[in-house]
Amino acid sequence: MTDTLVPAQSLLSPADDAGSPKRLFIKTYGCQMNVYDSERMADVLRPLGYATTDTAEGADFVILNTCHIREKAAEKVYSELGKLREMKEDRAASGRGMTIAVAGCVAQAEGEEIMRRQPAVDLVVGPQAYHQLPELLTRTARARGERIGADFAPNDKFDALPTQRGGTSVAAFLTVQEGCDKFCTFCVVPYTRGAEWSRPVAAVLAEARELAARGVREVTLLGQNVNAYDGEGADGKPSSLARLVYALADIPGLDRIRYTTSHPNDMSDDLIAAHGELPQLMPYLHLPVQTGSDRLLRLMNRKHGRQKYFDLIDRIREARPDIALSGDFIVGFPGETDRDFEDTMDLVRRVRYASAFSFLYSPRPGTPAATMGAQVPDAVARPRLHALQALLLEQQAAFNAAQGGKTFEVLFEKKGRERRQAIGRSPYLQSVHMEDADHLIGQIVPVFIASGEQNSLTGQLPGHHHQSGSRPQAESRRAASDRTP
Ligand code: SAH
Ligand code: SF4
Ligand code: F3S
Repeated sequence: MTDTLVPAQSLLSPADDAGSPKRLFIKTYGCQMNVYDSERMADVLRPLGYATTDTAEGADFVILNTCHIREKAAEKVYSELGKLREMKEDRAASGRGMTIAVAGCVAQAEGEEIMRRQPAVDLVVGPQAYHQLPELLTRTARARGERIGADFAPNDKFDALPTQRGGTSVAAFLTVQEGCDKFCTFCVVPYTRGAEWSRPVAAVLAEARELAARGVREVTLLGQNVNAYDGEGADGKPSSLARLVYALADIPGLDRIRYTTSHPNDMSDDLIAAHGELPQLMPYLHLPVQTGSDRLLRLMNRKHGRQKYFDLIDRIREARPDIALSGDFIVGFPGETDRDFEDTMDLVRRVRYASAFSFLYSPRPGTPAATMGAQVPDAVARPRLHALQALLLEQQAAFNAAQGGKTFEVLFEKKGRERRQAIGRSPYLQSVHMEDADHLIGQIVPVFIASGEQNSLTGQLPGHHHQSGSRPQAESRRAASDRTP
């Protein structure tokens, strides 16, 4: 049986009783925008009496917020659904219901197929329809059918989401732009997220003020092409991302601003200048190039060459010499030769990245590259990926090591595993581990960097240098891994 066992009434009443809210588990895959969307889904459902938990076990409502970018990412969803189905059956046996929803980019791309392949799924909701969740839930509870919300109307979404955001973190994501018009030949995003659309400046500022009032010190502006931002300003005309960033910098308490992901073709002069002028704008830039081969850049429809990328990097470093650069690379794009790959290695050696993500090309249904001839066999692509990742890890270690001996401000975000240890972020986005620092969580303080390791930095309060015996916790590898950004 696939009908949910929870009657509509109980799904929509605030809570069964004050003491037992309904439990909501959201599992998030993919990019930061999905992380943001998951938080907002929790916000929409909170007034209906749903409180989030961190396991599917015992949850009344489970949402998988999915990613379609590579085949592996999409397939994970189906195996997870298999497990959830068993849980749902166990719960049904003891007379309790579990509603299962699939949200995000897989939902958008293959909604019908999900319903067909996994009948335990109660509803499918695309990235622009989260505000419809309460309504979709009622419909699910009443009858089967009509459970797919997958239209592209991002303005409705943002207008309808609650203005109050939950969460207690000192660093937050804020979506300012969605969608993509670039149509890189390998990529599903223009199909799953729709056309580029920017939120109005006033809406972004209002959300940012609310975050600052709640104690958020650092905000990361999100967009698939965030630097193509052109939201309506107070004068009714489109505003650039740079202008938005200047306006955000005026909000008291918002001390750090970041943005991601940028496209090289939209890196405007005013944004580059802002990196030189605005102390709140952090010295970190994720600027994917995908390949160092001009021939492949053309086949990928990236619409720029390697020289343009080099020139851009020069101008950015002129404005902000210490900026940490990051990127994304695809290895094994159709037709990639040894020579093309060598061009990528050469580009990486010239640019010197602080961190970067690299991926094996994954053919995606419906994209032009999937049907290009000369798909590169795994046996050829994999050793290339490993060589690239080794180089990127070496650059990352060198960048981190070079921070040793410096003093800079760190925003402490959370407790570490060691007693009284705190973990924070450097301006360059590395994790900073510091002993006896848990009282500093939520604060931005100057920290002396005793050393830089592969994946993190070890900090000490200035003037309190001491030889710390314990090693920082090994962190999951942020850079150069074959994972979703
Ligand atoms: N908007 C961003 C990136 C979005 S997707 C940009 O334009 O750069 C994040 C990264 O996933 C991409 O930069 C790319 O490196 C990788 N990616 C996208 N499609 C892929 C595919 N089919 N196979 C492998 N990696 C892919
Ligand atoms: Fe995908 Fe980014 Fe290209 Fe858009 S610009 S198609 S999101 S890789
Ligand atoms: Fe994945 Fe969609 Fe983000 S495909 S990377 S979750 S925009």
